[in-house]
Parts: sequence; structure tokens; C-alpha cells
Amino acid sequence: MTLEPQLAQPPAALDPCESIAEALAQSGWAVADDFLSPLLVAQLAQEARALRDANAFRPAGTGRGDGFRLDARVRTDQVKWLDGDALTAAQRMLMRRLDDLRNAVNRALFLGLFELELHLALYPPGGFYRKHLDQFRGVGERVLTTVFYLNSDWDTLDGGALRIYTGAGDAPDYQDILPLGGRLVCFLSARFMHEVLPTRRERISITGWFKRRDLHEGRRHAHLLPVAVR
Ligand code: OGA
Ligand code: MN
Repeated sequence: MTLEPQLAQPPAALDPCESIAEALAQSGWAVADDFLSPLLVAQLAQEARALRDANAFRPAGTGRGDGFRLDARVRTDQVKWLDGDALTAAQRMLMRRLDDLRNAVNRALFLGLFELELHLALYPPGGFYRKHLDQFRGVGERVLTTVFYLNSDWDTLDGGALRIYTGAGDAPDYQDILPLGGRLVCFLSARFMHEVLPTRRERISITGWFKRRDLHEGRRHAHLLPVAVR
């Protein structure tokens, strides 16, 4: 089943961030198209490919600290963490919109989202990420997952859909969402199992996790970005 974008055409008066927050409050997940302009999406994709060509991506693992594992049976994407001090103009535009989203979500759901960690992800042809939950022990809790896609002209036959298991309990149900350029998907990190189905084309995205302020953590992690970067 392929999802029709629920929020592709929000009422003109409503900021898409408000519509996303509303959908999150209703169902815990949301899809919005044209979250950034096609020009910005193309720029972000071009920058990602330049980083790929400069060997800036690293194989992605699972877990953190002592729990970190590389396991190509689980995921085969490569990632590049974004450093708040070294963002490009286009990346800053994405951060601004994600900060708008953070404010809308905090208003609607009282989640207290505070920090964002953000990485570029690149799945080579054949790449996948098996069914999982976005949670790491030992580092501040991931509350909201956001995935922003940078791929032009994606077709169902290209594979690489994000499958979100939206069913509760005994009713396993899922939504397949194509990684179309400009599309933002977000969902409550602790609630939804999800996977990236094998892709036939190179698949590029920018994945983010909003976190609450971690009161138990003495030191800041280099990849955690203060969200207000205007
Ligand atoms: C992840 C993830 C989904 C996607 O990076 O944890 O689940 O569609 N990504 O890229
Ligand atoms: Mn995930």
C-alpha cells in the first residue's frame, strides 16, 4: 500500500508545521510534501553528493557508546552527522523550518523538544534498514523522528519506501511512504517500528531526532545541535 500524501495541499492560511503538529497529535505520525522549495531540495541533494564524492560519509551503526555496532545485516546506509557550526546556507534553511516545526509541535503536544541531532543518510542501490525502533540507551531520549527526502523523480518501482508500522497490538498494519524530494515524514520515535525497504536507486535523506533536554547528561555531544540557529 502506498500512501497518498495526507498533507500535500494544506489550506493556504495554515503553516504546514501547524498541519504536521495536528496530524502528530491525532495519530503520532505525519507526512508533508514541499516542506522546502524544490530549489533548496536540489541544493541539499547536490551538497550531499559532493560530500559523498569527498568520502565524508561513514557506514551507519546501531547503538551508542559501548553499544555501537556495525552490522550490514541490519542497515547498509552511510551517514554524515551535521555539525551546527558548519552548516551550509541550505542546511540552515532546513534547520529554520525544523525549528518552526519544533515550536508548533511543542505548542500542540507539550513535548518539550529542545535539541536536534541531524545526519545525512545515503543508501546505495540495494541498501536497506531492517525493522527497528529509533531508541538509544544512554543518550538523551529521542522523542520525535523527522526524515526529509532529497530524491527527484522517485517511482514505486525504485523501492526504498519507508514502511511505518502504524497498527496497534494485534492489528499489524503499515504505511509505505516513498522518499520523494521535498517530503518530510515525522513520527513519535518510541511508538512506531519502521524500516527502509531495499532501494534500487541511490537514496538520500536528512534524518533528525528531536530530544528533550537531558538533565542526567553532564556533557554535550558534539553532534547535538541547539535548534535555534537563525
Ligand atoms: C533511520 C530511519 C528512515 C528513512 O535513519 O533511523 O529509519 O526513511 N530512516 O530514511
Ligand atoms: Mn529509524
